[in-house]
Amino acid sequence: MSIIQQMNSKLANMIAAGEVVDRPASVVKELVENSIDAKATNIMIEVIDMGMGSIIVTDNGMGMDFLDAHLAFDRHATSKIMDESDLGHIMTLGFRGEALAAIASVSKVTLKTRQENTEGIEVIYHGGIFVKDGTSTLNQGTVVEISDLFYNTPARFKYIKSDLAERQAIIDIFDRLALAHPNIRLTLVMDNKTIKSTYGTNDFYSLIDQIYGSKMTNGMTIFEQTVQKIHITGYLLSPQIARSRKKDISVFVNGRYIKNYKLVQAVIDGYHSFMMVGKYPIALIHLEIDPSLLDVNVHPQKYEVKFVNESILAYYIETYVKEALLKQTHQIPETLKNISKGLDETYIPLNLNFGEAVISESKPVYETQNTEKTPKLPDLEFVGIFSGTYILFQNEEGLYLMDQHAAAERIRYEHYFNSLAHPNPAVKHLLFPHHLQLTSDDISVISNHPKKMNAVGFYFNEQNDLVGLPIWLNDSEVEIAIEAMVSMIVEKDAIDLAILRDKLAKDISCKGAIKANKALSLSEINSIVKNLRACENPYTCPHGRPTLIKLSHHDIERMFKRVV
Ligand SMILES: Nc1ncnc2c1ncn2[C@@H]1O[C@H](COP(=O)(O)OP(=O)(O)OP(=O)(O)O)[C@@H](O)[C@H]1O
Ligand SMILES: [Mg+2]
Repeated sequence: MSIIQQMNSKLANMIAAGEVVDRPASVVKELVENSIDAKATNIMIEVIDMGMGSIIVTDNGMGMDFLDAHLAFDRHATSKIMDESDLGHIMTLGFRGEALAAIASVSKVTLKTRQENTEGIEVIYHGGIFVKDGTSTLNQGTVVEISDLFYNTPARFKYIKSDLAERQAIIDIFDRLALAHPNIRLTLVMDNKTIKSTYGTNDFYSLIDQIYGSKMTNGMTIFEQTVQKIHITGYLLSPQIARSRKKDISVFVNGRYIKNYKLVQAVIDGYHSFMMVGKYPIALIHLEIDPSLLDVNVHPQKYEVKFVNESILAYYIETYVKEALLKQTHQIPETLKNISKGLDETYIPLNLNFGEAVISESKPVYETQNTEKTPKLPDLEFVGIFSGTYILFQNEEGLYLMDQHAAAERIRYEHYFNSLAHPNPAVKHLLFPHHLQLTSDDISVISNHPKKMNAVGFYFNEQNDLVGLPIWLNDSEVEIAIEAMVSMIVEKDAIDLAILRDKLAKDISCKGAIKANKALSLSEINSIVKNLRACENPYTCPHGRPTLIKLSHHDIERMFKRVV
C-alpha cells in the first residue's frame, strides 16, 4: 500500500515558512523590503514586546488593489518576476513570492492597503487561513500588522532567544535596511519609544550619525571607484572607532545587505595597519553591479549572493580601502601613525603606563602570588636593545631576545585579569560626567542594564555619561571596557565575569601597549623583567606570541659552524 501523501498547502507553507521567518527580526526584514520594493519613501516600523506582541510596518508606497491584496498571501505569488528570464536581472529585494505567505502561516495578519485614487482595503488571515476582508480608511500605501507570531508553531516559539537578543536583531536589521537606503525615511519604534530614525535625504553623514550615534562620522573617509563595471563606494569610519565585533562592516549589493565573509575580510585587511590587533572598524561598502553578473537566488533569506568574480572584487576592495585610509593620514591619530611607521621599520612603540602599583621599583606587583608555583624567568643580564623593540639579555646558558611589546602586553594582561577578579571593585566617582564615544546601540544596552554595569563598577547618569568607574581602570581605557561588556550583554544577556576578565584584559592590555611611544630606560627594563617574572604565564603575550626567545650557546656555535 502506498504511504506517501501530498502535503496540504497549509502544512507545506508552515514548513517552508521556517526558512524565511525564523525570528521576529526576519519578519521586520521581509515587510520593510516589501515596502521598499513598493517604492515607499517613508516607512515606519512599530514593534511591541520584541516582535512577539506585534509588528506593524506602515509605508507610503504604491499599495495593492483588491485582488492583489488577496493574492499576496498565496505562496509563489509575486509581482516582481514573470518568468525564469527575469531571474537574471533582479533589481527588487523580493522576488520569490513567499514571504507574506510564510509570515501569514505562522501568525495573525491584518493587511490594509490603498492605491492612489481608490478606496482602502483590509484583508485578515490567521495561521494562513483567510478570515475576512472589507474596506478600510488609510492614506495611500500599505500597513501590515502581524500579531501572535509563532502562536501555532510552539517549537519555534520556544527557541526565540532572550528579549535582548531579539531586540538587538531587530535593531541590526533596521540599521542595515537604513544604511542600504539613504533615500528612504525609516523610523523604528519599540514599545512606543522611537529608537532610531533616518531622514531619507541621501546624506550618508547624517545617516551614519543617526544609525551609529552622533559625531561617528568625524574622520570618515569616502572612496568611489569603478572597476570591471562594478561601482564601489566605501564609507570608512575612523580606525579610532574600533569595535570588538565584525558586524559593523556591512556590504550592500544593489541596495541589498549581504553576508559575505571574503568581502568583509577584504575590508578588515584594508584597515589592517591602521587598527589595533583584534579590533574591527565600522565601514560600509556599497556595490552597484549589473544584476546579470549576480545570482541572488541562493538562499530563501537572500543574504547570500554569488558574484562572477568574488576574489578579484575582494582584492580591489582591500586595495581601495587601504589607499583611501592612507590618503587620510592627516586624520590618523599620532599613535596610529606610529604603528604603521613602526610596522615598516619593525619598531613597535611601547607604553609602560601600568599605573603606579605595577611600575613601582620597590614593590613587586604580585606579592600575593605563590612564587614557587609560577613559572620563572631565568636570571637575565641586560646586554642592550636591538631595533628599538627587542631587549637583549644573556646568562650562562645563552642569549635571550625579549619582545618588549609582547612582554608589556603580558604584564598588563595579567594585571587587569587579576584586577578584574574582584567581583565588587571599588568605584572612582568622577567630578565631571565623562561623555563616551559609543554607538547608539551600545548606549541603549547600557541604559537598559544599569544593574549589570553597576555590578562590575560602572555608573552612568541619565544622559548616559559615565559618572563612576572601577578604581583599577584608567580613564582612557573606559570606552574599550564598556564596548566589551556591551557585546557580552548582547550575546549572552549577562556579564560572564570569567570571559569578561579575559576579553577585557586582552583588549585593554593590547590598547595600552600601543598607546605611547616611549623609549625604555634601564629602570623600566628592570621593571619589565621583574613584572614579567611575576606573571602566571610569562612566555607568551595574551595573543599567544612569544615574549622571550632563547639562543643557547650551542645554537649560536652551530650557526657559526663551530659545532655540527
Ligand atoms: N507593502 C507592500 N506594498 C505593495 N505591495 C506589496 C507590499 N507587500 C507585498 N506586496 C505585494 O505582495 C506580493 C507578495 O509579497 P511577498 O513578500 O510574499 O513576495 P515578494 O516580495 O514578491 O517575494 P519574496 O518572497 O522574495 O519577498 C509582492 O510581490 C507585492 O506585489
Ligand atoms: Mg517580499
